[in-house]
Amino acid sequence: MPLLLGLLSLLVPGSAALEPISVGIAIGAASALTGYLSRPRFYCAFVECCPGEADRPNATALKEDLDNKLFGQHLAKDVILKAVTGFRNNPNPKKPLTLSLHGWGGTGKNFVSQIIAENIHKAGMKSKFVHLFIATLHFPHDHQIKLYKDQLQKWIRGNVSACARSVFIFDEMDKLHPGLIDAIKPFLDYYEQIEGVSYRSTIFIFLSNAGGDLITKVALDFWRSGKDRKQIELKDLEPVLSVGVFNNKNSGFWHSSLIDRNLIDYFIPFLPLEYKHVKMCIRAEIKSQGKAVDEEIVTKVANEMTFFPKDERIYSDKGCKLVQSKLIFY
Ligand SMILES: *[C@@H]1O[C@H](CO)[C@@H](O)[C@H](O)[C@H]1NC(C)=O
Ligand SMILES: *[C@@H]1O[C@H](CO)[C@@H](O)[C@H](O)[C@H]1NC(C)=O
Repeated sequence: MPLLLGLLSLLVPGSAALEPISVGIAIGAASALTGYLSRPRFYCAFVECCPGEADRPNATALKEDLDNKLFGQHLAKDVILKAVTGFRNNPNPKKPLTLSLHGWGGTGKNFVSQIIAENIHKAGMKSKFVHLFIATLHFPHDHQIKLYKDQLQKWIRGNVSACARSVFIFDEMDKLHPGLIDAIKPFLDYYEQIEGVSYRSTIFIFLSNAGGDLITKVALDFWRSGKDRKQIELKDLEPVLSVGVFNNKNSGFWHSSLIDRNLIDYFIPFLPLEYKHVKMCIRAEIKSQGKAVDEEIVTKVANEMTFFPKDERIYSDKGCKLVQSKLIFY
């Protein structure tokens, strides 16, 4: 192997940026020399390949990631683990996996999408098979909806043709133009294929704040009646959530038939985070920077966050969002 790597770096100057073609050439040369290497496997060590049927995500690793990095979200954890592993272990899914993540900012929705992406594609968000669309960033102008719509459909089709196990993440779903939701809809449905492309192995993740206030209300009711938040079950939230999302005119879902037609497989609520969860985020962030955890700093940073409701001060208004930037000052 060191010999081959040496050979590769000779053939490909500056091998940090390996281009598929030059790597192809290098591999051709290397294989001609060694003969016995299986090309696909060797190739995929250098160039990102679309996962095949046998490349299942490791359920243990996914669980560990969720346990170690996501705090205070017992519902989301369970549902995501079940949904993702179930989907990837199903040899013949009838439709793509569609997850709708709901809750206020900083509660872990983006984080969870990253974790899912990393467990399907090693390069995670940097993978060429993982696509993130942010409504206000990628589709800002209402008058260009027609253009966005054509583009988006072309991209989804093009990328899924190249890799059936592509992952699409749509952030700020509540700000996405209804026309664009309609544009995505056909890909989410139970079709065997559309124009020769099957979308049944693809994962779509939708993130929104929609329903965040209702989720908070349920959590607060539990807290006020002295119950542990871990007792909150999906069934306590699911009806509130789908009705809430559906009836909220500000959320793009209102205009679409995503819910009507049962195209969303899982609605996943993210609960508001308490003081102790914020502390967990801070510790995790310090550890991820390779430093030792100093509890005094953890407390100081946590105390800088603001909490609501006004009297009880239970939940962090920004969740764990500002942890990273606040830590810089210590
Ligand atoms: C799955 O992940 C666990 C924990 O990270 C690891 O110990 C195990 O070796 C992995 N299994 C495979 C088949 O990669
Ligand atoms: C895949 O999606 C990206 C946007 O994430 C787009 O720029 C690219 O053109 C698409 N590829 C194909 C083949 O459609």
